[in-house]
Amino acid sequence: MAIKYIDQMDLEGKKVIARFDFNVPFDKKDTTKISDTTRIDRALPTIKYMLENGAKKIILCSHLGRPKGEMNMDFSLEPVAAYLAEMLGEEVTLTETATDSGIKSLLDGSKPKVILLQNLRFHKEETDCDREFAKKLASYGDVFVHDAFGTAHRKHASTYGIIEYFTEGNYCGGFLMKKENEALTTVVETPTKPYVAIVGGAKVADKIKILEALIVKVDHLLIGGAMAYPFLKAQGKDVGTSLCADEDVELAKKILSAGGAKINLPTDHIVSTEFNGAAENCSTVDIPEGKMGLDIGPNTIEAYKSRLAGAKTVLWNGPMGVFENDDFNKGTFSIAHALADLQGAFTLVGGGDSVAAVGKSGLADKMTHVSTGGGASLEFLEQGTLPGIQALKFGIN
Ligand code: 3PG
Repeated sequence: MAIKYIDQMDLEGKKVIARFDFNVPFDKKDTTKISDTTRIDRALPTIKYMLENGAKKIILCSHLGRPKGEMNMDFSLEPVAAYLAEMLGEEVTLTETATDSGIKSLLDGSKPKVILLQNLRFHKEETDCDREFAKKLASYGDVFVHDAFGTAHRKHASTYGIIEYFTEGNYCGGFLMKKENEALTTVVETPTKPYVAIVGGAKVADKIKILEALIVKVDHLLIGGAMAYPFLKAQGKDVGTSLCADEDVELAKKILSAGGAKINLPTDHIVSTEFNGAAENCSTVDIPEGKMGLDIGPNTIEAYKSRLAGAKTVLWNGPMGVFENDDFNKGTFSIAHALADLQGAFTLVGGGDSVAAVGKSGLADKMTHVSTGGGASLEFLEQGTLPGIQALKFGIN
């Protein structure tokens, strides 16, 4: 069944309850300052559409962090409300809790138009997918809009259970949900060949399912970051003091036997004696004793660039090295440039760290799609869909 999206809805005079993923990071020094507003910015088209298409009340809701069912003001959505008000040029009223008694009068009066419910995860009923809590949230709106792609892998009250309380035709996906679902579906179901996947990051164990799913579909799998060392060790190479859990070596052996010919591994490295130590070039595949690999080396960069040349679909998940440190960012940024330069290719960047890396490289707008999902985009790539998307397609009755 096709998902109904917000531009197919009649919002005139309706109260709309809309779920977003405003789970944004905060500045480490000034903990009230949002350090990356991308997730809120990507929600704005849906919110503006509701404002411009006659909605009577707009009730926004989200979680922030993991306050574990307790009211903890360190996880207040106050900074999000302030940012939204600034971006929308509208007053945004933050409620005390998602269920407080004052909400009724906010909904009945003519003002305010835009209401933001306080952090849904102050109630343990949210993550428990409690039916009464879902029903309460549903009672705020005539229509439900799900635009929280980043949380669509969770079967929670506001991302899943709530749909039970709307009749078909009265719930829909937002514009971000549409973009994410279409982009990821393209890569999972109809990737144009040659299809190259680049997977980096720290642990093989965290990405085993995605690696297993990818190895049967891609033409080439390029591996970088700390992810590469268990693969090299599995091939009998020396990895020095590089991050390399025994469990990951076993998993790497499994992937190598499933698709060895498609797997590309680093042939040289940038190493150091310690995590923040001075960078040294290691031109051999074997890493000397006492050194750890912290980035892919120049020969590997060139080899990976030539694998990417001519690709028609590229999926990138996970950085090639410790890109936060200027001495170890060349691998990651070279990959970002190689993707940005590809002509006529569908380039999708998914997963938290590679998204941050693309953001840092300044090349995000050169990619076909940069996903706002961390766990959600990984799970989509593994499963081909997400519970929140299935609920929009089929309902949950
Ligand atoms: C995320 O940041 O990946 C989403 O907001 C989901 O958060 P969660 O992992 O705490 O459910």
